[in-house]
Amino acid sequence: MKQRTLSIVKPDAVRAGNAGKIIAEIESHFRIVAMRKLQLSKAQAAAFYAVHAGKPFYNDLVEFMTSGPVVVMCLEGEDAIANYRKLMGATNPEKAEEGTLRKKYAESMSHNAVHGSDAPETAAVEVAFFFPGCDLI
Ligand code: CMP
Repeated sequence: MKQRTLSIVKPDAVRAGNAGKIIAEIESHFRIVAMRKLQLSKAQAAAFYAVHAGKPFYNDLVEFMTSGPVVVMCLEGEDAIANYRKLMGATNPEKAEEGTLRKKYAESMSHNAVHGSDAPETAAVEVAFFFPGCDLI
């Protein structure tokens, strides 16, 4: 089933100059429907990760996600949500499989290079968070 998902290249990967390599790898598997580079505000990051509010890592996550620019993309492909999560690898790069984006580019569990939506409902909300319908081409 063709699906769309949201991808974020996080501040650690952008800072390290790895955004282009990550985007090229993503593009070899998915169609990039929309893409922006932006600096998240604290309010935007807090809202985007609202599902994690109250968790011990929440404040650090908001701090980190606003520490520099990110690249956000809407991706499309067959089973894009699960397949992009496969390409990313486990949240903790120590547990990520060889060849995955997090194995190659993540520094730690919190500085883990990339984000991907985890379900169709969250994908729809996350894509709409960054892209109005007219920008999804
Ligand atoms: P992400 O896929 O962007 O979704 C939530 C993020 O919280 C996750 O990636 C991690 O970068 C970050 N995080 C930090 N600590 C933890 C933790 N203990 N468990 C889960 N996520 C964490």
